[in-house]
Amino acid sequence: MGTEDDVQALRRMSGLVTPMALRVAVTLGLPDRLRDRPATAHDLAPGLGVDPLALDLLLAHLAFLDVVERTDAGYRTTGFGALLGAEAGNGLNNLLHHDTAAGRADLAFADLLHSVRTGEPAYPVRYGRDFWTDLAEQPHLREAFDRQMTDRMCNWVSGVVAGVDWSRFATLVDVGGGRGSLLAAVLEANPGTRGHLVDLEDSAAGARELLRERGLGDRAEVTGGSFFDPLPPGGDAYLLVDVLHNWDDEQAHRILARCAEAAPAGARVLVVESPGGSTEFDLVMLVHFGGRDRGSDDLAELASAHGLVLESVSPVAGGRSVLEFRVTR
Ligand SMILES: C[S@@+](CC[C@H](N)C(=O)[O-])C[C@H]1O[C@@H](n2cnc3c(N)ncnc32)[C@H](O)[C@@H]1O
Repeated sequence: MGTEDDVQALRRMSGLVTPMALRVAVTLGLPDRLRDRPATAHDLAPGLGVDPLALDLLLAHLAFLDVVERTDAGYRTTGFGALLGAEAGNGLNNLLHHDTAAGRADLAFADLLHSVRTGEPAYPVRYGRDFWTDLAEQPHLREAFDRQMTDRMCNWVSGVVAGVDWSRFATLVDVGGGRGSLLAAVLEANPGTRGHLVDLEDSAAGARELLRERGLGDRAEVTGGSFFDPLPPGGDAYLLVDVLHNWDDEQAHRILARCAEAAPAGARVLVVESPGGSTEFDLVMLVHFGGRDRGSDDLAELASAHGLVLESVSPVAGGRSVLEFRVTR
């Protein structure tokens, strides 16, 4: 039998109140609104279109969490709470807001049981369509997702650029390359390499702009399209960064098959993921997409069905490794 402390620890771990209170605070913009101008729930409620008594309950819990503090003029955001603000520049606001890609997707955790029962993503149960279709239909979600991807990469892009000898590749195809921040960094560090990025049209448009802004327009082509369709042929390397973990095995096979078909014999497929990453992240991939972070052995087995032979696994940065496969045929 566990101790009372253990029971309390489990109670805290399983509580939904605090995570949801923080997310609702972010969604209502409270950390920014109360940063320099203290206000009461009654002051704030009409402008926010919320119930004043309910808002007061929320603010009281936020004060308990030290996110806001009580002053004579009402509640004011603390230095700790300011980290949740849109302008804090740490990406948290974009992850927690109910109407951003990640914040909205996390709400599907209410249907985790469905995912565990079926192995399917919970996202479509809640929203009636899959994550990528939702992003295509709501540009502000796509914008938030691309920003999230760019923010997260800031810390480890230089490690990935330094961790691979990219100069071996005259042409590099970045498959599902998002807004292109990694491809831009690789091309900047390797003047002899040309790039070709493929992503869905909305992201591709952002990538075109970014690559042009970085002065790489003449060395980088961008195609708006699906990686389930034939990919640009003849590349020396095909890059998949944090792509396969978004998909179940059947779809991951299809993506690898497209790479293997497009690549000449001897070319490389580089998979950058976090093999054996975090258990929490695995559940996120399951609920949002029906995917998971696969270990190196699983990735090697998946790839071997397409004549891709694992040559090396190199830890780079951000918990990620580069798995380099050689195309054999
Ligand atoms: C997790 S993000 C990774 C983006 C980029 N590789 C990076 O590391 O920042 C997955 C990418 O796959 C793209 N994607 C999803 N479905 C796609 C499809 N059918 N065809 C092409 N790209 C797709 C998304 O738009 C997104 O940019």
